[in-house]
Amino acid sequence: MEIRKARLQDASNIYELVNSLSSDGTLLRRAFAEICENVRDFTVAESAQGIFQGCGALHLYGPHLAEVRSIVVRPEAKSKGTGGLLLQSLLDEAEDHGVGCVCLFTRIPDFFFRHGFRVVEDRTALPDKIYKDCQNCPRLYRCDEVAMARGQIPKVSILGTRIEAEQLVRLTG
Ligand SMILES: CC(C)(COP(=O)(O)OP(=O)(O)OC[C@H]1O[C@@H](n2cnc3c(N)ncnc32)[C@H](O)[C@@H]1OP(=O)(O)O)[C@@H](O)C(=O)NCCC(=O)NCCS
Repeated sequence: MEIRKARLQDASNIYELVNSLSSDGTLLRRAFAEICENVRDFTVAESAQGIFQGCGALHLYGPHLAEVRSIVVRPEAKSKGTGGLLLQSLLDEAEDHGVGCVCLFTRIPDFFFRHGFRVVEDRTALPDKIYKDCQNCPRLYRCDEVAMARGQIPKVSILGTRIEAEQLVRLTG
């Protein structure tokens, strides 16, 4: 299995796989244009035969925080360690960038526990994530995801303050 940074030529495979799991809310829907624009965030897994097996993205908010997004492995390729390799590669990338904390929202915390993530009980401790995604999320009023992080939760934010995030969550919860 090869794990490598995505190229623009991977965008259609990424688009199809990510959106195949978006209708039930497993993954956030991503527009093709958004994937192309952010393709440098993505890492892909490819078989020895060069066949696309899965992907994951690392979104950088700033030196204080990054987020693992859109991590997914093709159904027929699951349980062979590919998801773990993709995740480790994204964590290595965050470390290369000197980012102290990596967060994510998920419905499958058990997978991420195995990779050093812990639950963040109060999601307003991650205001950047709330401002980036939650406001526009169709599941805003019925979020069933668990907030998780690896590393120290940052005391600073770039997109909104914690107080603003608390207000937003209160208004919508
Ligand atoms: C999560 C995912 C990327 C893991 O990929 P993978 O290649 O199967 O991962 P690995 O082989 O490294 O690890 C597999 C282990 O992860 C854990 N795991 C995987 N999916 C899980 C789930 N839905 N719930 C709980 N644990 C899970 C299990 O312990 C599993 O071991 P097992 O196969 O012996 O049961 C893959 O299952 C997937 O694409 N899921 C759908 C998309 C998704 O939910 N992404 C996460 C969004 S935050």
